[in-house]
Amino acid sequence: MSLQILGPFEGSGLNFMNFSGKTLAERYAPFNQWGMLREEQHLWPFGLTHDSRRAMNFGTQDYLGFSQNQAIINSVREFIEKHGIIHSAGSPTLTGRTVWTDQLEEKLAAVLKQKTCLVFPSGWMACFGAVSGLINGKDTIVMDALAHNCLQLAARLSSQNLYKFNHNDMAHLEEILEKSRQMDDKNGLFVITETLFSMNSDAPDLRRLMELVHKYEAILIIDTAHDLGVIGEKGLGLLETYDMHNEKNVIICGAFSKAFGTNGGFVAGPEEIRKQLTIMSPTYIFSTGASPLQCHVASKSLDLIFSEEGSRLRRRLKELVYFTVDKFHKNGFTVNGKPTQIVPVLIGHERIARMIFRNVFDQGLLINLVEFPAVPKGKAIFRFQLMATHQEAEIEKAIELMKVARVKVEKEMMELID
Ligand SMILES: Cc1ncc(COP(=O)(O)O)c(C=O)c1O
Repeated sequence: MSLQILGPFEGSGLNFMNFSGKTLAERYAPFNQWGMLREEQHLWPFGLTHDSRRAMNFGTQDYLGFSQNQAIINSVREFIEKHGIIHSAGSPTLTGRTVWTDQLEEKLAAVLKQKTCLVFPSGWMACFGAVSGLINGKDTIVMDALAHNCLQLAARLSSQNLYKFNHNDMAHLEEILEKSRQMDDKNGLFVITETLFSMNSDAPDLRRLMELVHKYEAILIIDTAHDLGVIGEKGLGLLETYDMHNEKNVIICGAFSKAFGTNGGFVAGPEEIRKQLTIMSPTYIFSTGASPLQCHVASKSLDLIFSEEGSRLRRRLKELVYFTVDKFHKNGFTVNGKPTQIVPVLIGHERIARMIFRNVFDQGLLINLVEFPAVPKGKAIFRFQLMATHQEAEIEKAIELMKVARVKVEKEMMELID
């Protein structure tokens, strides 16, 4: 498709990846023009500023509502009053660690039944750091085709022996592992995947995954960003459901940014990874460490997550998940994946999805529009995300808005065709 004729309903960022030229204008003007066309039509759902306290917010990853939890906010006040420190001001490899980093890492390692844990300033940095710090060019990586950007980028940088298995396809994974071990029986064979995929709300068969990891003497790096704290009786995520915390050769990474009410991430596993990551992980060495305040919030959240209050919030969230999925079905929507706090609502064509998004956003509903290339072309979704603090009435209102918008948009499209 020629760039000149791309309208606000067509194309994606991918059409503009091949920018070239010497000046800023030459390089980025086509993309900016297309972005402005979309913006003028209220069809640019990126980098929007909003007040999440006022909007109907179904586009957040604050699954337990901790970003506005009063107990956590009070403890932040007390922390600042008592300790008077908010910044780590150094690389954690050098002077950027504080007693609050130690406390958080010890607590998290204990909960996850791991020997060690390292805290990073963000989940992205933790996952990127785990892969890039533990793998080198002699190793082979076998990765789920839909793994998060932080895992994909790090894998590409770490080894050219990189293979992707079809999303959650354990038979395909085994095929690649078998061939890889036949070719190289001496070096590291790393399997990289996630526990809960946030575009699809689906998960690998973790029991089979572990069998394959052991059979081929591989090492698993698994990203638990979306389910740790949110899923499972104890809040330990899908790894709890499959009782995987005692497995050997497993490295668990994740993010605080979803369930823990703050930025930050971690890598946990056997003792051998600690020194290695401290010195070899670029996102650990070359960036300022997680702040004392971040560590304090994550630590306080961790206490809440693994308390009776955490169990209550998870039970409530589960109720809301079933309520929401049922409401979407009853209103004629198709919901992808497994019932979790992430409800991917299939819309289909990008043009229709953008028009529905514009309509509901203008009425104060925040949801994430996800389109190609994040999902296949023509399979645009709304990622409707639930918090334990949502109420049924808000959910009903949001779904009603989406239904009315869809009917209106489809009618407009039919009139255009006529
Ligand atoms: C699976 C997964 N891993 C890692 C991250 C990065 O986490 P953070 O936003 O804390 O950097 C995300 C963020 O959305 C994610 O979805």
